[in-house]
Amino acid sequence: MCGIIGYIGNKNVTGVLIQGLKSLEYRGYDSSGIAIRNSKDLKIVKSVGKIVNLEEKVKNINGIYNVGIGHTRWATHGEVNEINCHPHNVNNVTLVHNGIIENFRELKRELEIIGYKFKSNTDSEVIAALIDSYNGDKYDALVYAQMKMRGSYALVIMFSDEKDCLYAMKKDSPLVVGIGKNENLVGSDVSIILPYTKKYIDIDDGEIVKITKNNVSVYNENGLISKNIQIANWSLDDAQKCGYEHFMLKEINDQKQLCIKLYDKFVSENNYSNEIPDISKYDNVDIVACGSAFFAASIGKYLIDNYICDGSIHVNVDVSSEYRYKKHFYNDKSLVIVLSQSGETADTLACLRMANSLNVDTLAIVNVPSSSIAKEAKMVMPMLAGPEIAVATTKGYFAQVLDLSLIVQKLAYVKGLISKNQKDELIRTFKRLNDIIDDLFNIDYSKIASKLFLKEHIYFIGRGLDYIVGLEASLKLKEISYIHSDVYQAGELKHGPIALINKNTPVFSIITNDEVMEKSLSNAIEAQSRGAKLYLLVTEEINVDNLKIEELICVPAVSDFYQSLINIIPFQFIAYEVAKMKGCDVDKPKNLAKSVTVE
Ligand code: M6R
Repeated sequence: MCGIIGYIGNKNVTGVLIQGLKSLEYRGYDSSGIAIRNSKDLKIVKSVGKIVNLEEKVKNINGIYNVGIGHTRWATHGEVNEINCHPHNVNNVTLVHNGIIENFRELKRELEIIGYKFKSNTDSEVIAALIDSYNGDKYDALVYAQMKMRGSYALVIMFSDEKDCLYAMKKDSPLVVGIGKNENLVGSDVSIILPYTKKYIDIDDGEIVKITKNNVSVYNENGLISKNIQIANWSLDDAQKCGYEHFMLKEINDQKQLCIKLYDKFVSENNYSNEIPDISKYDNVDIVACGSAFFAASIGKYLIDNYICDGSIHVNVDVSSEYRYKKHFYNDKSLVIVLSQSGETADTLACLRMANSLNVDTLAIVNVPSSSIAKEAKMVMPMLAGPEIAVATTKGYFAQVLDLSLIVQKLAYVKGLISKNQKDELIRTFKRLNDIIDDLFNIDYSKIASKLFLKEHIYFIGRGLDYIVGLEASLKLKEISYIHSDVYQAGELKHGPIALINKNTPVFSIITNDEVMEKSLSNAIEAQSRGAKLYLLVTEEINVDNLKIEELICVPAVSDFYQSLINIIPFQFIAYEVAKMKGCDVDKPKNLAKSVTVE
């Protein structure tokens, strides 16, 4: 959602801020703005819509400015317009804010009583007034604001009467400080610092940072503290398109390399490495996530249900926004697994915090190492997917499924439910996974997309794992091409949804499980008999010679532990091609944010 950045150094700050805001675009936004300052004046420039609009406006700025802050806004309080857009200025205080202040109405009333007048409808302008209203030292003013505010915030603040520094602080919203040479940066994530430095400090809740060109001081309630300087293991290339037309296309392609990266991390001497959590001591496992991560969780449940077949584990999956409001009865053999690419998804973070507060063991499968979820979970299994910029997840989902598959493989092996030979075979397949999927990257999916891009409704059917793959395939298509699609368990079609099938309705039937192959084929034919155009995704072993098929995609057959990873790739490409043909903004679909930090 919103993204923030601050810079102080020798460079022309406008260029740094615009570049930084562009690297935060993926978070989702509807307007943007910057505030820059030199010894003479403060300039604030705001614009609705894409950052190129802001870029156009700042071209007219003359003079040299070396300090500034910037913001991409995803509207929560007040409509999308320049007044509500950040930075907000109240007298001596100019700031950008990511988060939501829950008690802002109450604070606003108090400030109005003492004479403050507000221009915008935002909670963020109230923070600027709150800080300004404190009569005293700047640091104390920030502590005062911390005490008064309820909610979440990452803030970068400039004071007009203190020209050579920036202040920043956070609670429940991410904030990192990049340590450069004669320059320092602060912002929502490491992508903003990568063009300048790989060194960064992770700011924790409650801390206040004072940043000058040559110094970064971090304070908490104990005074000045020393923080570890970390080295970003993401390169600048990781966060760039590298010649691909879109980030999504790059990230789909990154999946081949990701197989190798995960193999190197999680396999050691032909065995599951200690980096894969051993969850054999738990008998009650809840897996919790949102969106695509929830579908990955559902694959994890399927694998546990089917391969930990001695009844020793009960596994439950839930979407985070539901799970957090249910009653839970944990014991010392309970484990809560949370899945999150961003590590900041508000509902998933809330579930993690709830579980932590109830003293149950927690494990996070998470991509962003400096995220709140990575920091707060008791155990962490990294996804190693590198920065995922496109709003629609591809490699993030892939890594989540693969991580869970490895946890379940290891569990099955530890419990003696798969033999050494089976384990060796699974590890051999893992080693070859990047080769196994290679052919799927050479198919021309635009032919299939050309038959779909003008359709209004598309259906996916499948059984078991294939049904779950259908859920993710359908979400990809919806998110970026805005085509309505629905997913049904193939056997359920005739219990109602088949009424929706008209002449030429596209139906994707996913059939990669031998055991139910005949039944799934019958379900596909039932749809075809009602006029549906049949698109099949099958394994090479399934014979479909006698069927009239619109399009056929053949994928290699592998163990269930990897099959759903293979099956999703063609659907990622199809969604991408359809969205492109429709002229949609593939990487930044409307209404969506990459990291959903509101509940
Ligand atoms: O960062 P997270 O994995 O926690 O995000 C969860 C969902 O918001 C995310 O998967 C969302 O559904 C994506 N837009 C799917 O492409």
